[in-house]
Amino acid sequence: MCNFRLKTFLIPCCALLILAGGVAAQTVSHEEAHRKAEELLKKMTVDEKVGQLNQSSGVTMPFLGSQKPDDLISQGKVGSVLWLIDVKEINRLQHIAVEKTRLHIPILFAFDVIHGYRTVFPVPLAMASSWDPSVEEQAQHLAGQDARAAGIDWTFTPMVDIARDARWGRIVEGAGEDPYLGAAMARAQVKGFQGDTLGPDSVLACVKHFAGYGAADGGRDYDSSYIPEELMENVYLVPFHAAEQAGAGSFMSAYMDLNDVPATGNKWLLTDVLRNDWGFKGFVVSDAFAVGSLTTHGFARDGEDAAYKAASAGVNMDMASQTYTRSLANVVSTSKVNDAQLDALVLPILETKYELGLFEHPYVDESKVETTLTRPEGLALERKVAGRSMVLLKNDNKTLPLAKSVKKIAVIGLLADSKSDIEGGWTVESLFGAPGKSHPVTVLAGIKNKLGPDAQVTYVAGPPMARLYPSLFDMISGARPPAPPTADEVADWLAKTKAAAGDADVVVAVLGELSSMSSESASRATLDLPGIQQQMLETVAATGKPVVLVLENGRPLDIRWAAEHVAAILEAWYPGTEGGNAVADVLFGDVNPGGKLPVSWPRSAGQEPLYYNHNLTHQPEDQPGFTSRYWDLNSKPLYPFGYGLSYTNFKFDHLRLSRKNVKAGEATEVEVEVTNTGAVAGDAVAEVYIHQRAGSASRPVRQLKGFKRVALQPGETQTLKFPLGKDELEFWSPQTKAWGVEPGTFDVWAGEDSTASLHAELVVE
Ligand code: NOJ
Repeated sequence: MCNFRLKTFLIPCCALLILAGGVAAQTVSHEEAHRKAEELLKKMTVDEKVGQLNQSSGVTMPFLGSQKPDDLISQGKVGSVLWLIDVKEINRLQHIAVEKTRLHIPILFAFDVIHGYRTVFPVPLAMASSWDPSVEEQAQHLAGQDARAAGIDWTFTPMVDIARDARWGRIVEGAGEDPYLGAAMARAQVKGFQGDTLGPDSVLACVKHFAGYGAADGGRDYDSSYIPEELMENVYLVPFHAAEQAGAGSFMSAYMDLNDVPATGNKWLLTDVLRNDWGFKGFVVSDAFAVGSLTTHGFARDGEDAAYKAASAGVNMDMASQTYTRSLANVVSTSKVNDAQLDALVLPILETKYELGLFEHPYVDESKVETTLTRPEGLALERKVAGRSMVLLKNDNKTLPLAKSVKKIAVIGLLADSKSDIEGGWTVESLFGAPGKSHPVTVLAGIKNKLGPDAQVTYVAGPPMARLYPSLFDMISGARPPAPPTADEVADWLAKTKAAAGDADVVVAVLGELSSMSSESASRATLDLPGIQQQMLETVAATGKPVVLVLENGRPLDIRWAAEHVAAILEAWYPGTEGGNAVADVLFGDVNPGGKLPVSWPRSAGQEPLYYNHNLTHQPEDQPGFTSRYWDLNSKPLYPFGYGLSYTNFKFDHLRLSRKNVKAGEATEVEVEVTNTGAVAGDAVAEVYIHQRAGSASRPVRQLKGFKRVALQPGETQTLKFPLGKDELEFWSPQTKAWGVEPGTFDVWAGEDSTASLHAELVVE
């Protein structure tokens, strides 16, 4: 080991405590990191600085055409490596960076640890359905600890894009449509990964995709977004700002054009808003290849122009496109980007490396990886989070919960026993790792586990689901999408389905989408149940047996038929490694569902974009005459934002405001009582909504401004309090171009979902 490493290791070591099992983790304060980074920066050449701004791919993939980064690393031309999870390979590359380069600067290893590492938690949309930021924080904390133990210092999480359109595949990766809920989940995730400060035991979070990515035209991933400034400020930027205030150390610029300026070359976003208005001190990485594709957008002339436009807009690090590597030094030599600008791009990356403790501890302790990743508390936490994330959409109050004494049960649907779907997309191991190390429990297995060997469980899968194109994940694995089944095959599957249902006491149909049908580059034009699943559902319902539909999916689907014809519907999303056990916990009443929808549930794709916090029109749809509506469809959602049932009932009452009149800037307190009026314990989520009746701009019909999930015993009442002050009442006005609370009357509602009727009035003088 060279002198540099010894020096940087010995000084902090004096202060370290030796704990059982190794050297205690030492946190480097931001001030110290800043000082060290500045010293180091003074020693660096332009090429070495540009090197820190380059993130190279750690894998070679035919369609990406990337090469192993060894040579670039040894020349000091790599600041970070992504898409690599082989611990030995991580250590090998780190040895090159630390031992073979002039300044011995360690590499930052990055990966998409989106909802778990070895233990996979429910997909983010599901975790948002828990309406419990504390469990999402716990889940992401465990995921982060696992990832760091396995050599991943930086995760491209959280995705905080507001998604108002279920056709957009990436709705599954975020917290849904609401800025207030989205902000709460964003803060929880940053806290979970990073802790209170960055350190040797935490993982750097990356808030993405900055910003407006979810508003893609037609719900088509990567397509342009057109979002006026007031909508950016009041809706799309809100969770980003919350994550930044929670201390997120990095941001990722989005792929798409925002109002005709690609987000990755958008100075307004990356410098004016993020750095100047919000005071962000971390660094921005582009999305993969996004610097290079500024030319594809028709925004940059060539690679050099792309490097100039991205760097001067505020992109610190170029993910995978190598455009900075090839062109940024030239741009600097012409002074289009000057030395001070270059230093400003490099400094936060070096600071972060100091803060994460990479200079002191650059290598992974390979002997500890498996022990950490197989901790039993991971699976226990996963099962709990999954149970809390499920949303009961329908129950005839006779069918669910199922009796454990049930003798014959038919389980229907491909997804019921699909290990590759129950964990959802973006699982680390299925992407680039060693599939097979995680042991997901399917719904079929979960039901069998719950009922034991005496129950008769019959399973009919149905044919593979065909689709037009290979998914991104198919492309990585080289798989091809299957062809549709023939008419004979369909008839055969339906006959088997009918026989199994006919012979059963109850049918559990596990239907939805393959996990690859949502997420990146996976938009859909319809929200139908793919394949022959609808026919299978109609076949089992026709037998007259009680049917429970369990949905495994990454977006709301068109389930209008099911909503009328089946006894119960449980939205399980993709519930993770222990997902099948968690589904069984809910189906058989060991867990009382308490999740709520983080999205408005459409009747049909034709309603999209659909969101509850829209403005009133000149003729609201509830009025007679010409109104805002469709000729051929009820324009309201099938299930409203914030909705979800329980095996018990709740009553909301006694809504009061501590002050009914306040001055702008002052606060009142909303108080509401919630009582469990049913016979079993359960979780209620109290939701508070407001509406400003008049002002300098039209305001949404309702806006969520407070929520709390509480556990209540039968008969128990709790009084819940929510602040309503400047933060909740202000908005960004397109007239004043500023945030402010405006005098006027506000409606306040509290209750179980966004249609709550319990009402009070607040006057702001
Ligand atoms: C592209 C995706 O848009 C982004 O979310 C992800 O983090 C990067 N690829 C890295 O995998």
